[in-house]
Amino acid sequence: MGPPGAGKGTQAAFIKEYYNIPHISTGDMFREAMRNETKVGIEAKKYIDKGMLVPDSVTNALVKERLSQADCKKGFLLDGFPRNIPQAEALDQIFKDLNIKLDAVINIDVDFSVLVDRVVGRRVCPKCGASYHITNLKPKKDGICDVCGSELIQRKDDTEETIKTRLDVYSNQTKPLLDYYKKQNLVKTINGVGDVNAIFEDIKNSVGGN
Ligand code: AP5
Ligand code: MG
Repeated sequence: MGPPGAGKGTQAAFIKEYYNIPHISTGDMFREAMRNETKVGIEAKKYIDKGMLVPDSVTNALVKERLSQADCKKGFLLDGFPRNIPQAEALDQIFKDLNIKLDAVINIDVDFSVLVDRVVGRRVCPKCGASYHITNLKPKKDGICDVCGSELIQRKDDTEETIKTRLDVYSNQTKPLLDYYKKQNLVKTINGVGDVNAIFEDIKNSVGGN
């Protein structure tokens, strides 16, 4: 968990590699659906471009279907889900149905003042999903993905105007979820400002295992 631009996707790439588990990002799934112009993609676009949450019915069904797949049997990392209390309750039910136990909730803490710059300066690879920043995390060659050589793009919702709505949505709908999980003693709060490798070390130390 963490506000837009906290580094969820950046740290998820390290976690996926180190723990050898799938990284399940509802945002990435929606963006793929939008690229393919599926029914879900067309519906999601109406909300994502404005910085609002996609309706729970659409999102919860997508997650349930994904978590039922075989590669989730040995564990997985959710990124960007759940994002409000009804989604957390739906997830509890999915876990019950699939006999899954939640181990930890990693909360990446970053002051709002740095988030706008991080989000507006982000560039992503449309092909492999790698994420960069125009000053903080530059690709080796300007505008080109280090991993697969594709031309980097800017997400349509990464504008100064949209990020304001996304931060409001986070404060009003997502942040209250921290209490939901604190009551279950699951929250590991990590300082998300500083070197990305050092932040990952903190995550590893707080979560343990490998
Ligand atoms: P989603 O894709 O989940 O976006 P988000 O939560 O807004 O978060 P971001 O992806 O913007 O940030 P991040 O924390 O992953 O940061 P990153 O690592 O890239 O959701 C998008 C939309 O989809 C939502 O608005 C909603 O409409 C919809 N949606 C998704 N899930 C949904 C759900 N469950 N229900 C309903 N709707 C849903 O880093 C950001 C930048 O900072 C990068 O440029 C990076 O290089 C840089 N950076 C990272 N770490 C550091 C560091 N330590 N120091 C300096 N720079 C850093
Ligand atoms: Mg992300």
